[in-house]
Order: sequence, then structure tokens, then C-alpha cells
Amino acid sequence: MSDLRRLLVSAGPTHEPIDDVRYLANRSSGKLGCAVAREARAQGLEVDLVLGPVALPDPEGCTVIRVETALEMQAALERRFEACDALVMAAAVADFRPAQRITGKLKKEEGRDDLTLHLTKNPDILQGLAARRAHQFLVGFALEADLDLEQAERKRQRKGVDLLVLDGPSTLGADRSTFCLLDGIIAPVWLRDVSKDELARELVERVVSALERR
Ligand code: CTP
Repeated sequence: MSDLRRLLVSAGPTHEPIDDVRYLANRSSGKLGCAVAREARAQGLEVDLVLGPVALPDPEGCTVIRVETALEMQAALERRFEACDALVMAAAVADFRPAQRITGKLKKEEGRDDLTLHLTKNPDILQGLAARRAHQFLVGFALEADLDLEQAERKRQRKGVDLLVLDGPSTLGADRSTFCLLDGIIAPVWLRDVSKDELARELVERVVSALERR
């Protein structure tokens, strides 16, 4: 591409603290989002990567902003959204967080065998960004237990994204998986048994050609 375009990527899980030593989390490894960041950089894009808590190194040449919680991820993405040309929202954001973070360590209560945690809904970061988009091309993900295409297309429209990547729970932590790309224009495209690097290449190609058309 002639003039450098700016891609914003989110990746990894979020950790939602219960107290100073415990948190709620999910199995996301952050590998796919980091692969997208690396591939985009290799294609000559400027890349800002907002990365949840994972043990992966910073992808070379990218500006990496490390965050822990969904609210921190939202703030980091909101700060950088206006300046970007496209967003790939690969993070597995926790839908809920403990309503209160306990200072210190939550202690067992003498004589009680159960514990109830009160959770509060986290904001839908992608939907919020989509509502204030100007020119940006938006890519979202949908993890659906049964790879249901109709449900995924409804999610694509509800979230307001240009391209939705549908996958199943077996993708989390796996090296290869099956994905389906939905853009509401052409028929859904299945990518079967592909690696995260192969999917990243396809996504970056789609982003670059969408930006070239603008
Ligand atoms: N997402 C987000 N903020 C959230 C939850 C999800 O920005 N609080 C983004 C994810 O990064 C992903 C897309 O929304 O790109 C879809 O995530 P998914 O977990 O499949 O959908 P949910 O909106 O959480 O819907 P549900 O779990 O009810 O199917």
C-alpha cells in the first residue's frame, strides 16, 4: 500500500479481579490477534495492539498497550479508535465482572460451604465503537457453540461490523480450526482446518482491499 494505514487490533482475554489475588478469566491465548498484528505489520500497516493478559512477547514493530480488565481495554481502544482506519476486535472480552473488587484477599466464612459472587455486565466494547465509527472498517468475532450461520449474521448486524469471523469453542487454545467469514454481501466463506497465521493472512488481505477501495 502506498500511504501507511493504521490498524487497531485487540487480542487476548480480560481478567476481572475478585480480590487482589483472584480473577475471572477465559481460555483465550491471544495468538490470533497477535498473528493479525504481525501480518498487518508485514503488509506495511501501522499497528496498535491492545493486548489482554497473556505471556506472549510484543509483536515486532507494533505499538503494544497491555491491559488487564475489560474496562481498561475499552478505555485503551476508545483512545485510539478515531485515529485508526480499521479495527480487528479479536479479544475475548469477559461479559461480566465482579460487582466489587475486594481489597486484600477474600476470606472463607467460618461455617459456610458456599459463596455467591455478584457480577455486573461489562460494556460491549465493539458495539460501542461501531456506534461512533466514521470511516473505519470493522472486523468482529463470534464464538457460537454450534457454528450457527443465521445467529452469526444477526450478531454481525447487531454489532454493526463489516466482517464477522465465526468460530466454535474448540478454537480456544487450538493450533488449527474451522472459521466462517460473513460480510452480508457475498455468501459466507468457510475456511476449514486453517492455522491462526493462515486466518490472519486472509483477514489482513480483506482489510487491506477494503481500505484500498475507500
Ligand atoms: N465483544 C466486545 N465486548 C464485550 C463482549 C464481546 O467487544 N463485552 C466483542 C468480541 O471481541 C467479539 C464480538 O464482540 O469481537 C463477539 O463476541 P462474542 O463473545 O461472540 O459475543 P457476545 O457479544 O459476548 O455475545 P454472546 O456471548 O451472548 O453470544
